[in-house]
Amino acid sequence: MQTVLVTGGAGYIGSTLCGALLKSGYRVICLDRLFFTTEPLKSYADNENFSVIKEDIRNVTPETFKGVDIVIDLAGISNDPACDLDPQLTEAINHNGTVHVAKTARMAGVSRYVMASSCSAYGAGSSEQLTEESKLQPVSLYAKAKVDSEKDILPLGTPDFCVTALRLATVFGVSFRMRFDLIVNIMTMHALTKKRIVVLGGGKQWRPLVHVRDVAGAFMTAMQAPVAQVNGEAFNVGSTDLNFQVIQVAHLIEQVIPGIEIVVAPDDPDKRNYNVCFDKISRVLNYKTTCSIGDGVAEVKRMLDDGKIDVDDVRWYTVKYYKYLIEADALLREIKLNGRLF
Ligand SMILES: NC(=O)c1ccc[n+]([C@@H]2O[C@H](COP(=O)([O-])OP(=O)(O)OC[C@H]3O[C@@H](n4cnc5c(N)ncnc54)[C@H](O)[C@@H]3O)[C@@H](O)[C@H]2O)c1
Repeated sequence: MQTVLVTGGAGYIGSTLCGALLKSGYRVICLDRLFFTTEPLKSYADNENFSVIKEDIRNVTPETFKGVDIVIDLAGISNDPACDLDPQLTEAINHNGTVHVAKTARMAGVSRYVMASSCSAYGAGSSEQLTEESKLQPVSLYAKAKVDSEKDILPLGTPDFCVTALRLATVFGVSFRMRFDLIVNIMTMHALTKKRIVVLGGGKQWRPLVHVRDVAGAFMTAMQAPVAQVNGEAFNVGSTDLNFQVIQVAHLIEQVIPGIEIVVAPDDPDKRNYNVCFDKISRVLNYKTTCSIGDGVAEVKRMLDDGKIDVDDVRWYTVKYYKYLIEADALLREIKLNGRLF
């Protein structure tokens, strides 16, 4: 039985991936700072093959990776606005922390490492399809940290330490740590709660999309692939037919939730625009996505219709939540007396 350590395993992608790995017979260690608590992991709590390490990726040591065969590295501040809150921290966690995980894993004798990179590394591309060979032009701190991490990590590969970077499209669908700051999820939520979707930035910008369970599948495909196929390689993760202009996404949601108003606004602080080619992962690893936008919209709708989630909970909005934690920490420090609240 192989052991997979998933950093950021309690997050949106990680909490789905941990389940998929357990189901496939792996022993799973989730290493996470647990900013979103252990709640996303509660369905695995009783699984004897599952354990959790509450730790910051900046503090891992070779001891952390004792008995670990494979590392999947997801931990980090996970979107542009949250990374802009504190640029130095973003560099420390999303670049230096990620590189530290990879180097320490190699030192500890881990045999495979798969990094969560992002298609946002392509930045404001043109409308021609971007391949893994296209120029990386990050337009945010978040994306720059991904590009810098890839540059430092991919050359670490050796025959005994296989490294792969997966450049994920924007993810959608239901997971145990929900994210309503991702385009399909947030538009679906607005369609249901406001009967209205506001499409920012004119709506003509391209965005590749991929379902969260298909992302879990991509990590498993990459970590199981023959070393020669993936060592030192970056792969775009998604499907060429899941590239949409943002306005098209709104209309796909309208097909599942009819009777909504779609409003187009000209401005958007998010400058990403990229149409991505996913032929490499399909050709080399025979990887195919299984879920459509409609599938994801329908399951988010079901979750909200069933009242399974409070859409006003700050945890589902990454930047709002990190801001809330920072402000709460400052307030508590001011109020506490001799280190105690009461
Ligand atoms: N969701 C997407 O659309 C998407 C797209 C491309 C790439 N990615 C990348 O995939 C990875 C996972 O994204 P996600 O959507 O699951 O995000 P998420 O915010 O839900 O999860 C990130 C997890 O990392 C943990 N974490 C943060 N800083 C940490 C630290 N210093 N040490 C240990 N743990 C820490 C958090 O507690 C959280 O559980 C990220 O690297 C993200 O950049 C995500």
